[in-house]
Amino acid sequence: MTTLLAVVPPFIARLWTAPLGEHAPWLKLIVEGQDEYAPDTIDYALGFRPPPGFFKTLPNVKAIFSLGAGVDGFLADPEFPRHVPLVRFVDHTMSREMTHYAVLHTLMHHRTQRLLDAAQKEKQWRQGFLPRRTEETRVGVLGLGEIGTMAAERLRDLDFAVSGWSRTRKSVRGVETFAGTEELPAFLAQCDILICLLPLTPATRHILNKETFAQLPQGAFVINAARGGHLVENDLVAAIDSGHLAGATLDVFETEPLPATSPLWTHRKITVTPHVAAMTDPRVAARSIADSIARHMKGEPLENLVDFAHGY
Ligand SMILES: NC(=O)c1ccc[n+]([C@@H]2O[C@H](COP(=O)([O-])OP(=O)(O)OC[C@H]3O[C@@H](n4cnc5c(N)ncnc54)[C@H](OP(=O)(O)O)[C@@H]3O)[C@@H](O)[C@H]2O)c1
Repeated sequence: MTTLLAVVPPFIARLWTAPLGEHAPWLKLIVEGQDEYAPDTIDYALGFRPPPGFFKTLPNVKAIFSLGAGVDGFLADPEFPRHVPLVRFVDHTMSREMTHYAVLHTLMHHRTQRLLDAAQKEKQWRQGFLPRRTEETRVGVLGLGEIGTMAAERLRDLDFAVSGWSRTRKSVRGVETFAGTEELPAFLAQCDILICLLPLTPATRHILNKETFAQLPQGAFVINAARGGHLVENDLVAAIDSGHLAGATLDVFETEPLPATSPLWTHRKITVTPHVAAMTDPRVAARSIADSIARHMKGEPLENLVDFAHGY
């Protein structure tokens, strides 16, 4: 029987048992830390933030599946076996949930919802917080991949002036596109709202820093739903406190869970959410991984393979 090792906490693995059993009864799920197994009997593995050095202990593993869209947790391991294909999770429902998060927090800022919330607490009937014209509000998306492209398209459909930045040139109808580090300054200079949907790689780590913020227009707003490692948190707080940035919404943090001592929790211009912009649905992911394994066993190529040279 083909074996699939789940390298996740047992409570997460439990969510996988039923959908995998239903969709792929030919696949034997083994849970690391819970089931007995010999490492050389593992055919495939799945995980999210694996312990460093773990995957090199599986001599016969044929492919490893990430439960998340981002694979920085795997590639942070210098001993990750780079000859083994690493497949990231790409799914419409994941992109859609991330897009909802991007649209929600764009609109929250655009419609001055936080100010209205504060006015309600004070029982104040304040009609002065008018949004700027939507067509004149420029939203820039860092990363035009699976998620960034969908977010850019939905924001465009809401009539925002949308642009996007990627490593290689992209073409998205109704979206102005920028590519490469040489076009980053021109991109940033025209973002009233900046949304980070990049993968975390050596090239994008700490891309949200004081130099980046200084290039945004006065009063810009920042949304980071990608990875905490993209942001220099102190630079963000300083740029907001100086009055240059209007505020931020953050779903991801350098240290997660966000420590109680972090000033981000209580900053009145920062909205904090606990890495919930999108959660992998085990029913969808179990089917996707089982289908990929079935195709791979028939000799067909795996899709959504990570390019180790670029780190995503
Ligand atoms: N908060 C959450 O709950 C949550 C959930 C899911 C995902 N995420 C995050 O979202 C990220 C994006 O996911 P995805 O599926 O959209 O990834 P993807 O399809 O791989 O797209 C990545 C995009 O980033 C661009 N990019 C990568 N490196 C770049 C660089 N150095 N300079 C400029 N652009 C660069 C790529 O450019 P090219 O198009 O030229 O390749 C591509 O457009 C994930 O890696 C993960 O960190 C967060």
